[in-house]
Amino acid sequence: MHMNRRITAVAAAATLILTVTGAPASATWSRTGAPGVGDGYFPLAGNGGYDVRHYGLEIRYQPATRAFSGVATISARATERLSRFNLDLRGFDVRSVTVDGHSARYDRDGQELRISPKHGFSTGERFTVVVRYDGTTGQPTDNEGALYGWVSTPDGAFVANEPEGASTWYPVNDHPTDKASYDFRITVPEGKTAVANGELVSQKTKAGWTTFTWRATDQMASYLSTASVGDYELRRSKGPNGLPIIDAIDRDLPADAAAGLARTPEMISYFAGLFGRYPFTSFGAIVDDDTDAGYALETQTRPIYSGPPSEGTVAHELAHQWFGNSVSPERWQEIWLNEGFATYAEWLWTEHVGGTTAAARFDSYYARPDTSSIWNPPPGDPGADNLFAGSVYTKGAMTLQALREKIGDRAFFTLLRTWYAANRDGTVGTQDLVRLAEKVSGQRLQSFFQTWIYTPGKPTTW
Ligand code: ARG
Ligand code: ZN
Repeated sequence: MHMNRRITAVAAAATLILTVTGAPASATWSRTGAPGVGDGYFPLAGNGGYDVRHYGLEIRYQPATRAFSGVATISARATERLSRFNLDLRGFDVRSVTVDGHSARYDRDGQELRISPKHGFSTGERFTVVVRYDGTTGQPTDNEGALYGWVSTPDGAFVANEPEGASTWYPVNDHPTDKASYDFRITVPEGKTAVANGELVSQKTKAGWTTFTWRATDQMASYLSTASVGDYELRRSKGPNGLPIIDAIDRDLPADAAAGLARTPEMISYFAGLFGRYPFTSFGAIVDDDTDAGYALETQTRPIYSGPPSEGTVAHELAHQWFGNSVSPERWQEIWLNEGFATYAEWLWTEHVGGTTAAARFDSYYARPDTSSIWNPPPGDPGADNLFAGSVYTKGAMTLQALREKIGDRAFFTLLRTWYAANRDGTVGTQDLVRLAEKVSGQRLQSFFQTWIYTPGKPTTW
């Protein structure tokens, strides 16, 4: 599903230009979908011309050899007249591509898989692409050098795709502006467990292989998909209002590895009370320490942790389900809308359970000198190589505490609730937040955000 108004408007403008320059009808059929959605930080992330509705991913993985084979069935809708379009896919051998059952020509250029269907599509037409591919997986890294994507581990795979690592394991329109629902059928050697987003539909073993079928019906950005494999024990419990909670914990870990998860149901109730009801159909955790990734990711409904998480980290990844997962960045430059909000929510939880208050956290950070790394880069434009810089988290969260003090608790908490309610399943930018904050508070806030979000260094007046 495509939610980005601004990018759609650009595509519409391009259509208009072609029309007025009088291209013949046949030329309009040679229209090629753009190789990226226009994200300034990741120009080739995502693709133009269509909108994915659903991914059906069938994967077979042998951890011992890292042999991987996949069949991706992608249901999409053309958003313009289209004769050729791209998917993002890194590595692998592509064995075949069909579009609506007809074999399609394709070629590859870096992360772009270019597909020329037999027949073009008119605007609004639905189509289904099936890509068969296989290869051997490795240990991909992102711009910052962190392991991401399909990370092979000694006993399986740690799968965490932020920002554009989904293309290391399936052909995808790899940008948060194109959310979709997902089905996963993951086949692994008997004894291994495969865990994806959503709920487990079935688990069947035949001839030494087990197929795990997971279904994620909620709209989801590709960076939040996972299909991790390991020696996991699945643990089921219930959260507030019967919300299914499914945790996958590596059996090699000590018994207290899940201690940080113990208060998850309480956290869900607390955040739902503050932000609005929990966005998705289930929740849980994947705890897998067989990687050096060294971070956690808020994979939708089922955050993944590269080691036993602290309670604060669990609160952080849970808060991302509202801020990041349901309300997503419309371009990667807006990452602070994820990390600043989740960090601030983590501060609120700590205060709620009797720890340091958010105000005291702000004060102790504010006492840091001008030279501290928490002030730079500015959270509103960290650069593609610094998406996860400390300032994006800390200065981002401090911005929210400073805003709360400026507009008062009543307006601030109304803002958080309205931000979620108005943007569920969608994508947003900082200007949307500024506008909403001005509306809710009745104050002018452009210069406040300019100071905190876009200006390098330690803010002095705001
Ligand atoms: N969004 C994650 C978190 O704050 C961090 C992801 C880091 N990812 C990476 N590729 N370095 O919980
Ligand atoms: Zn985070």
